[in-house]
Amino acid sequence: MRLSLRFIVPLALALGAIAYGVAPLVDQLTLKWFVRDLDIRRNLVASAVQEPLVELLTDNTRDRVRLQRVQALFTRILQDERLYALGFCDGAGKLVYRTAFLPAEVHCRAPGAPAEEAGRVLKHAGGALHVGATPVLAEGKQLGELLIVHDMSFIERRSADTKTYIVYLFAAIGAVIALITVVIAELSFRGWMAGIKALIRGQSLALSPEPKSRELRPIARDLEAMVRELEAERRQRDESQISWTPENLRGILREDLKGDEILIVSNREPYIHVREDGRLEVQRPASGLVTALEPVMRACSGTWIAHGSGGADREAVDAQDHVMVPPEKPAYRIRRVWLSREEEAGYYYGFANEGMWPLCHIAHTRPVFRASDWEHYRTVNRRFAQAVEQESRTANPIVLVQDYHLALLPRLIRERLPQATIIAFWHIPWPNPEAFGVCPWRVELLEGLLGSSILGFHTQFHCNNFFDTVDRTLEARIDRETSTISFGGDLTEVRRYPISIEWPPAPLAAQAPVAECRAAVRRALGLGEEVRLGVGVDRLDYTKGILERFAAIERLLELEPHWIGRFAFLQIAAPSRSSIEEYQSLEARVRAAAQRINGRFGAPGYQPIVLKVEHHDAGEVYACYRAADLCCVSSLHDGMNLVAKEYVAARDDERGVLILSQFTGAARELSEALIVNPYDTEQCAAALRVALTMPPDEQRDRMRSMRSLIQEFNVYRWAGRMLLDAARMRNRRRVGAARVGAKVVDLRRA
Ligand code: G6P
Repeated sequence: MRLSLRFIVPLALALGAIAYGVAPLVDQLTLKWFVRDLDIRRNLVASAVQEPLVELLTDNTRDRVRLQRVQALFTRILQDERLYALGFCDGAGKLVYRTAFLPAEVHCRAPGAPAEEAGRVLKHAGGALHVGATPVLAEGKQLGELLIVHDMSFIERRSADTKTYIVYLFAAIGAVIALITVVIAELSFRGWMAGIKALIRGQSLALSPEPKSRELRPIARDLEAMVRELEAERRQRDESQISWTPENLRGILREDLKGDEILIVSNREPYIHVREDGRLEVQRPASGLVTALEPVMRACSGTWIAHGSGGADREAVDAQDHVMVPPEKPAYRIRRVWLSREEEAGYYYGFANEGMWPLCHIAHTRPVFRASDWEHYRTVNRRFAQAVEQESRTANPIVLVQDYHLALLPRLIRERLPQATIIAFWHIPWPNPEAFGVCPWRVELLEGLLGSSILGFHTQFHCNNFFDTVDRTLEARIDRETSTISFGGDLTEVRRYPISIEWPPAPLAAQAPVAECRAAVRRALGLGEEVRLGVGVDRLDYTKGILERFAAIERLLELEPHWIGRFAFLQIAAPSRSSIEEYQSLEARVRAAAQRINGRFGAPGYQPIVLKVEHHDAGEVYACYRAADLCCVSSLHDGMNLVAKEYVAARDDERGVLILSQFTGAARELSEALIVNPYDTEQCAAALRVALTMPPDEQRDRMRSMRSLIQEFNVYRWAGRMLLDAARMRNRRRVGAARVGAKVVDLRRA
C-alpha cells in the first residue's frame, strides 16, 4: 500500500504539472478559435443589421430623427449580451453614430486606408474586446462601415475553466495509469523477487520450473549472464591477486560451496599411532601427499578416510574408527579403514607399489602385475568406497580422492553417490600411452578414474599423456579445447593443479635462527663450523635418484679434491615400502655407495656422505634445511617433489642453493634453481661446484624469486582452485537441473 501511494501520488502530480505547463498553449489555441468565431459572428450581425440600417441611412428624414432611429436600432441589437458596442463611420471616415460604450481607442478607417478583413483584439480596461469593421453597401455603393465590438471576457472565463479541466484531466489520467501499473507490479513483484533471488543464488530465473514472470525473462537472462561474468572475473581476480591463506580456503567453503561437506580419501593417513617403549606415540609419515593435504584439511575440517597402518592405530580410535587430529589442536577427523595383511600385501605393496608406481615413473624398474594383487586392489577400493558412503552425511558430498592407490574409487563412489562431486588427484606422473599400455587392467583403471568430476595432475604434460592414453584405450569423447572427457554418460574435467606446500610452513615457526641451526647440525654430525654442507631429504625410493646424487658427489671430489674435508653431504632417507624387494635392494645399494665413497674420500672424523636411514620429524628436517648450503633433489622422475619447495620455504635468510632435477614437476616452476639431468654425472658435479661457490648476492636473488613464487602458489591455492572448480560445477549442475525441471513443467503444461 505504501509503495502504491509512493508511486501513484508522484505520477499524478507529475502529470498535473505537465498539464499546468501545457495550459498556456491551450489558451493560445482556444483564443485563436474564438477570434475566428467572433469574425463569423460579426459578419452575421452585420448582415442582419445591413438592411434596416441602409433603410434608415437612405431615408429622407431629418438628421436628428435619423440619429434617434439608428440609435434605437443599435440599442436593440446590443441586447445580445456578447455585443459590447456599435458605431457607424460614413464614407469620409467620420464616426457619425455610436453606442455609449464604444471605446475611444476605436476609430474609423482613414479614407483610402486598406480595409481589414479580420477583426482585431483590443486590450481595454474592462477586459479584451474584439473589434471589426464591415462595409455597409446600398446598390453597390458603400455608405460607410459598421463598427462591431464584441466583449471577449467570456473567452477568458472559458479559457480559465478549460485550464482547470485540463489539469484535473491529466492528474486523473496519471492516477489511473499509476494505479494500473502498481496493481500489475504488485501482482508480479513477488514472482520477480523470487526469481531474482533464485538467480543470485545461482539458479536461473528464466528457466525456473514455475516461471511466473515471463515478461522478465530477457532481463533475467541478461542478469544471469552478468552474474556469471562477474563471478568469472572475481575468480580470475582471486586467482591472480589474493594471497592464499587458510582463511581464503575457509571462505570458499563457506561462500562458494555453502558449507558443503568435504571428504578426503587416501591410502596414507596423516597421523600414525605407534607404541614406543610402552607409550602411545603419534608419527607423521614421510609423504608429499600428506605434507600437502594436512594443512588443507586443518583449514577445511571434514573427514580424512585412510588406511589405518600404524601398529597402535586401533587403540586410538573410537567405536566408529574415528580419531580427531592433530593431537595438539584437533581440527578434523580421521576415519581409519582396516586391511588384512594379505590385502595390504596385494593392494598396497603389490598392485600399487610394484605395479602402478614403476608403471608411472620412468625409472627403469619394471612393473610387476599379478592377478591376485589386482583382486586385492579391487577389494580394497570397494572397502574405501563403502567407507565414503558411510561417512557422507549428505547425498552430494565433495570427495577428494588421492593418488594411484585408489584409481577405481571415483567410479565406485559415483555408483553409490551419483550426486557427489568427485575430485581425483594423481600425485605421480602419468606415463605415455605406450608405457601405460603394458598394464593388463588399463581399461578398468581408466574407467575408474573417469568416474571423477575433476581429475587433476601436476603438469599439463601429464594431462596430455592422460588424454592420449584414453584416446588409445577407450571409446570416449575427448575435447581438448575444454579439457574434458565424456565417457559412459559422465563428463570429467582433466586439469593441471600444481601442488605445493603451506605458506609459511608450520615447522618453521619453532626454528632457531639459521646460524644456530648451522652450528647445531654441524655439531651433531661432528663437522667443523667451516665445513660446507649439502642436504638431501627423500624416502628411500629408486625414483629419487639417490645413487645418481652420490655419483655426482664422488665426481666432484675426484675433480676438485680441495673439497675433501671441506664439503659433506647429509642424506636423510626415510625408510619406505621396505617389504618390497626392489626397495630392500635399493637400500643396500645406497648404503654400499655411501660406504664406498666414504671409504675413498673419508678420514677420521670426516665422512663426505652422512647417510641417515631413519624417520625424522618435520622440525629436524627443517633444521637441516636451514643448516645446509645447498639442497640436492635429483629425482629420476617425480610428479612434483615438495622437498624442493620446503627447502626454499625454510630459507627465510634468502641463502642456500637448490639443485633440482629437470624430471620433477617442481622444475617447471622453480626455474631459478640449478636445473640438472640426474643421469648426467658430470653436469651434476658441476652444479655442486657452482652451488658451493655461488656468491651470496646471487643466492639471495634466486631464493627471493623462488620464495615469492611458492608463497603465492601455495597449497591453499592448489586446494582452493580445485574447490572453486568444484563449486562452479555444482552450480552448473543446479542450473542444469532447474533447466530440465522447467522443460518438464512446460511439457506438462503443453
Ligand atoms: C608418494 C605418493 C604418495 C605416498 C608417498 C609416500 O608421494 O604419491 O601417495 O603417500 O609417496 O609413500 P607411502 O607408500 O609411504 O605412502
